Amino acid sequence: MKKYKRHLITSALPYANGPLHIGHLAGVYVPSDIYTRFLRLRDEDVISICGSDEHGVPITLKARSEGVTPQEIVDRYHAINKKAFEDFGIAFDIYSRTSNKIHYETASEFFLTLYNKGIFTEKTTEQYYDEEAGTFLADRYIRGTCPHCGNEDAYGDQCEGCGSSLSPTELINARSMISGGKPVLKETLHWYLPLDKYEQWLKEWILEGHREWKTNVYGQCKSWLDQGLQPRAVSRDLDWGIPVPVENAEGKVLYVWFDAPIGYISATRELTPDWEKYWKDSDTRMIHFIGKDNIVFHCIIFPVMLKAEGSYILPDNVPANEFLNLENDKISTSRNWAVWLHEYLADFPGKQDSLRYSLCASAPETKDNDFTWKEFQARNNNELVAILGNFVNRALVLTINYYEGRVPARTVILPEDEEVLREIGQIALNVENAIEAFRFREALKEAMNLARLGNKYLAEAEPWKIVKTDPERVKTIMNIALQITANLAIVLEPFLPFSMEKLRGWINTGKPAWDMAGNPDILPEGHLINKPGLLFEKIEDDAIKRQVEKLHAGKQADDDTAEEIPQGKETVSFEEFSRIDIRTATVLEAEKVPKTSKLLRLKIDTGIDIRTIVSGIAEYFEPQSLVGRQISIVANLEPRKIRGIESKGMILMAEDRDGKLVLVSPLEKVNNGSVIK
Ligand code: 2FM
Ligand code: ZN
Repeated sequence: MKKYKRHLITSALPYANGPLHIGHLAGVYVPSDIYTRFLRLRDEDVISICGSDEHGVPITLKARSEGVTPQEIVDRYHAINKKAFEDFGIAFDIYSRTSNKIHYETASEFFLTLYNKGIFTEKTTEQYYDEEAGTFLADRYIRGTCPHCGNEDAYGDQCEGCGSSLSPTELINARSMISGGKPVLKETLHWYLPLDKYEQWLKEWILEGHREWKTNVYGQCKSWLDQGLQPRAVSRDLDWGIPVPVENAEGKVLYVWFDAPIGYISATRELTPDWEKYWKDSDTRMIHFIGKDNIVFHCIIFPVMLKAEGSYILPDNVPANEFLNLENDKISTSRNWAVWLHEYLADFPGKQDSLRYSLCASAPETKDNDFTWKEFQARNNNELVAILGNFVNRALVLTINYYEGRVPARTVILPEDEEVLREIGQIALNVENAIEAFRFREALKEAMNLARLGNKYLAEAEPWKIVKTDPERVKTIMNIALQITANLAIVLEPFLPFSMEKLRGWINTGKPAWDMAGNPDILPEGHLINKPGLLFEKIEDDAIKRQVEKLHAGKQADDDTAEEIPQGKETVSFEEFSRIDIRTATVLEAEKVPKTSKLLRLKIDTGIDIRTIVSGIAEYFEPQSLVGRQISIVANLEPRKIRGIESKGMILMAEDRDGKLVLVSPLEKVNNGSVIK
């Protein structure tokens, strides 16, 4: 009896503004593919949905920087990414795109349903407008001087000079990136999804109803809900996207995060006329595979949209992963610090499974994890070649040599044989339980234990030594080794689809089925197997060395031209430096400034006084996580009123290249007010 009637698996729609790298595979697509393949082996009714996310400001910016249209950008990367997924065996039932007509229709209908139900609130705010270009400006299209550090090239949402989060109106001498002219503030109307009204329902649905979600996912949801939700605009003033389908909405499009998840629905519609049973029947189990940066959208915003619409099901689980780093540094597209899938395939043709294996074995399931080329090599050579390939090769070659490829009969069964047969069943069960719990690393390790078991069994039984003296015993040994091989071809299929297909060809079995996993009698006596080839090849040191060199050379080239590393500043005299009063302090209280997304109000003990500092770091820190932390502040910065609150001083932060902010704290606890010099 099946637990669920059918399954709908979605995988985050990647932006079509760049090629895919190993972080994408490890975080989202290898896990979703393993899960989907597993369900298919169990003969479940399952569809796997994905496609390109083709809207949003980064795509328009990329198009501008290349002097081409956004459509050209998305056409290019949609094709590249679709092919990369196919090449790596990521077996979606459909890889669609959000520029398709059916998606425009689906997203517009969805918006209209909510609109007609009176779900949205409308609000007019002032935003920058470029009169010359006749268009409102997204935050990233505005630059100006940072009020904090004087950097003249700060963006409308962030200064890369000092790391402050900004809103466009804080910039001094704001200028439009489109015309270069001075933008003016102009009123604009937008539609808001009132998340606040769904807060109670979300608390019940997630915090009470889905305690089984992964700790990282549940924790992030809880922290969002504890902070309190605010209405979110679901429209933007942009000329790239799906037009807001109501009157008086010229120049307005749906916010990319409103339309993208609806892309899952459109793609299902495109795939099958029977799409509604996947989306509207409560017997369907929907699972979203995503990376951690997408949690709020898939656990809070999209569910609220679905709930408000009223006729759709909600996700049953959202097994989000953390991030994969590369050689101890964050993967970064702009710094070209990445292993691009199409480049990997050009350098390691036919070795998709080696990468799939390595990425699954060190997947960032519970915390960020690191990919290194050395570890990749070791996993390939010491595990795939030495454990799995070696066992399979021995079992098949000996069978060809001893019995011309015919599976021999099991004769007398000794206790050690019984034990191995029992373990086959246990391992299959362990793999199944781990996959069901979305613990794919553990599942893969268990599956490899079957090959380890096979190696140990052959090494201890030594059939090659007794084949002349005790041929009956050898028949039993080889039969069991072949049953292990046939089991491997099933339990490893979700992880290593290319190699297991090869293996099935050699052992001459048809379509694999999970209900055979653990079965000690898959291959009947007399079944004919074929001559095997090599399942995996060793990867040599020089191939790894070349990859490491390529990575560093690519990064260097990019760094030379990168804008993103702030230039050194002019020298200052010691006297000038000593005018700045930098001290240690402790955060006593921290809370969000109401109606802002970026500002925190902090109450600080400076050792001299207790004071308030307003800091634009709300997107990077949970308020509560700051309380009790010892920090460094500029104590004598001229006081400034921010949102009506007097802010006295500035908190020191280190901003790494990817914009992440880290508090500058003394390594050991010192008295508050200690001078930093
Ligand atoms: O983070 C991203 O890459 C987004 N393009 C994911 C979208 S997922 C879904 F909602 F479409
Ligand atoms: Zn700045």
